[in-house]
Amino acid sequence: MEPSLQKRVQRYGWDKASNYYQDSWQAQLKPAQDKLLDMANIRQGEKIIDVACGTGLISFRAAEATGKEGFVLGLDISDKMIELANKIATENNFVNIQFERADAEELKTNDNEFDIALCALGLMYVPNPIHALKEMHRTLKPKARCSVAVWGQRNNCGWAEIFEIVDKRVSSEVCPMFFNLGNEGMLEKSLEVAGFSNIHIERIKSVLYYQSGEEACAAAFEGGPVALAYFKFSDEIKKEVRKEYLDSIQHYKNGNTYSVPGEFVIASANK
Ligand SMILES: C[S@@+](CC[C@H](N)C(=O)[O-])C[C@H]1O[C@@H](n2cnc3c(N)ncnc32)[C@H](O)[C@@H]1O
Repeated sequence: MEPSLQKRVQRYGWDKASNYYQDSWQAQLKPAQDKLLDMANIRQGEKIIDVACGTGLISFRAAEATGKEGFVLGLDISDKMIELANKIATENNFVNIQFERADAEELKTNDNEFDIALCALGLMYVPNPIHALKEMHRTLKPKARCSVAVWGQRNNCGWAEIFEIVDKRVSSEVCPMFFNLGNEGMLEKSLEVAGFSNIHIERIKSVLYYQSGEEACAAAFEGGPVALAYFKFSDEIKKEVRKEYLDSIQHYKNGNTYSVPGEFVIASANK
């Protein structure tokens, strides 16, 4: 897929998903985000960049950790995500945080500017993740650190069929290489190619818990990257894809609830 098309699909897809994102994903992504922040080991006064920040779920936690002497810049390709993040910052009187729209492959920041670069569950959506990691590397001070998280191997993510279910009904795939970075050694290799050293990798299992099929479908179709396609489907197709998705996770159903397995890979490294 053309990189510029993939970026448009992401930009407008996440615009559509933005209002549903936190309800759908905040709890489910927390284990990966906790581990990423743990590995980042943020100290007071540090200057932090959060790439593909979404609504700022980890940016705000980073801002609390670095305190008033520090600063967080959150960047995301979706205007609506940035709008929401700025609204949350204002409502909660954050003074050490700023959000702007930017592509992960073109950060428009200075060289050697930040003490820490973060990217939680964003790299899978970028057409060339190595370009994004090189940008994070460029904008870090010498020896500064990065901490990133991606989804793990396809086989260990029980919700993975969502992409095929949607892709076969649209002309351009939503996210062609989504699970690539989760394969054994791939994140480590990508960080190395981008110039990072002292790479440390952790792979963790998790469970995505849904109280009902409705909740599972809302997270999958409305709050995530397939939202752009989904909201354009007719009611009939919407019904069809929801049924196919629920069939694909049937194995993880218990009564009305679903406990769908997931896996994350989290890395820390130094410039
Ligand atoms: C799953 S959300 C993660 C958001 C946030 N990091 C978190 O942990 O909650 C993925 C985010 O990646 C952003 N994204 C996708 N492609 C991007 C790109 N090329 N550059 C910057 N952000 C991008 C989306 O807009 C979306 O907000």
